[in-house]
Amino acid sequence: MFVKCYTSTIYGISANKVTVEVNISKGIGMHLVGLPDNAIKESQERIRSAFDNSGLKMTGKKCVVNLAPASIRKEGSGYDLPIAIAILAASGQCHVDKLENYILIGELSLNGDLTPIKGVLPIAIEALADNFKGIILPVENANEAAVVEGLDVIGVNNLLQVIQFLNGDCIIEPAKYEILSSDLYYELGEYEDDFSDVKGQRHIKRAIEIAASGGHNVIMIGSPGSGKTMLAKRIPTIIPPLSTNEALETTKIHSVAGKLGAESGLLKKRPFRAPHHLTSQVALVGGGASPQPGEISLAHNGILFLDELPEFGRNMLEVLRQPLEDKKIVVSRAKYTVEYPANFILVASMNPCPCGYFNHPTKECVCSRNSVHRYINRISGPLLDRIDMHIEVTPVENSLMVGDSVEECSQDILRRVVAARTIQSQRFSDCSYVHTNAMMNSKMIRKYCKLSSESSSLLERAIAKLSLSARAHDRIIKVARTIADLAGEREILPTHIAESIGYRSLDRENWGR
Ligand SMILES: Nc1ncnc2c1ncn2[C@@H]1O[C@H](COP(=O)(O)OP(=O)(O)OP(=O)(O)O)[C@@H](O)[C@H]1O
Ligand SMILES: [Mg+2]
Ligand SMILES: [Zn+2]
Repeated sequence: MFVKCYTSTIYGISANKVTVEVNISKGIGMHLVGLPDNAIKESQERIRSAFDNSGLKMTGKKCVVNLAPASIRKEGSGYDLPIAIAILAASGQCHVDKLENYILIGELSLNGDLTPIKGVLPIAIEALADNFKGIILPVENANEAAVVEGLDVIGVNNLLQVIQFLNGDCIIEPAKYEILSSDLYYELGEYEDDFSDVKGQRHIKRAIEIAASGGHNVIMIGSPGSGKTMLAKRIPTIIPPLSTNEALETTKIHSVAGKLGAESGLLKKRPFRAPHHLTSQVALVGGGASPQPGEISLAHNGILFLDELPEFGRNMLEVLRQPLEDKKIVVSRAKYTVEYPANFILVASMNPCPCGYFNHPTKECVCSRNSVHRYINRISGPLLDRIDMHIEVTPVENSLMVGDSVEECSQDILRRVVAARTIQSQRFSDCSYVHTNAMMNSKMIRKYCKLSSESSSLLERAIAKLSLSARAHDRIIKVARTIADLAGEREILPTHIAESIGYRSLDRENWGR
């Protein structure tokens, strides 16, 4: 007998429908066709064992399993369930009639239980788009899929339960997930890490507020213990909450990477990813034998924090150039090419020199000028080109550290950031791919950042006097645009330019560049 049912395969962060056809005829053996990878071949063994342990029979005849279309590459262990069910239906052990309404997906363990798989969210989105009534999947994946409204998400524990459901012997209520708008936001003001924890450091907080407002990449330069990591961790709390679309997109990436827990539906917080400098290149940018998104994509719509930037190998930093420019990464291997979104704010940190105390207010730096130079130069010019702001972090004074000063909380800073971002949304309302000042190309800079002659000559003088490199020019203007937006000014005033110039320390010649 011939039976078909449907499943899905992930490509990048989207899914494609796959038809599983089973034909049982005279002869012996099981034959899998349609480009199955090793995991699918292994699924034969799991299916046999699951049948044995569930009191089900593997057909004694010739069983041909075809995964179509043959042209798409199929990965992973999620095919166990659809293949098993198609075999059972073709051998008369399960009803056929409901099969056309559902996407089936899930890995079988040897005893017939279902184990969760990766990438359920894009699969559910595609199932709805393909007009399926529902999706049958491991119960642990149900909440993740239930984010998609209008699809019956049937969470099941084991193979026998799927048969009972398809035979109409049991009713399984579709999983419910309510997208509360409040759910998409951090609960107001209740951040685990809040800017009010950071004592003093007023001008550094100001710089970070500018970066968050304009979406500017930043590098923090400061001695050990000066608070760089502490500050970076708190940046997501002052970026406006994820919109529903952003939340969906970011959650899809985490779904494909298998980084969502059973409880989670849509991600509510902007991601903060802090990969270690010994992380592999694949883990950072994505790829691998069966392609997975890397840290830069897990940071999509959030923050990628690279602590101790010079410790990252040069190759690692080079591969960041494309995603920083294009807001996505294309991973090409012999067998595939996939694309993952990677639109993040880069926050990097570094010591000012090998000993860590160059420019320190109280401690002496023991490094030679040359070694400071070499240290800074470990970060390539082209990467530095994509970092708008350099923030020097000096340690907070002891008196402030022990005092009981009340510091401004993240919620208050966020309010100002939201106002500045609203101005930017209006400015870029005609352009679908630019939302923040940081994303302006040079044509947009000419259009939206006209300088008065006073501002302009201040900038030229500063560039000459401080020996700033040419690359500093446009970055200073972009950041000044954000400073003006925070002040609610249409025009970029000389004070805005002056403040912005202060955020280019690594361009100064006396810092080795
Ligand atoms: N302004 C501050 N207010 C309150 N605590 C602070 C402040 N600055 C530093 N600290 C304390 O010092 C600790 C060390 O800070 P942090 O780890 O952020 O420093 P760092 O600059 O990242 O250092 P390293 O270069 O060693 O990574 C923090 O955990 C925090 O307890
Ligand atoms: Mg640190
Ligand atoms: Zn030093």
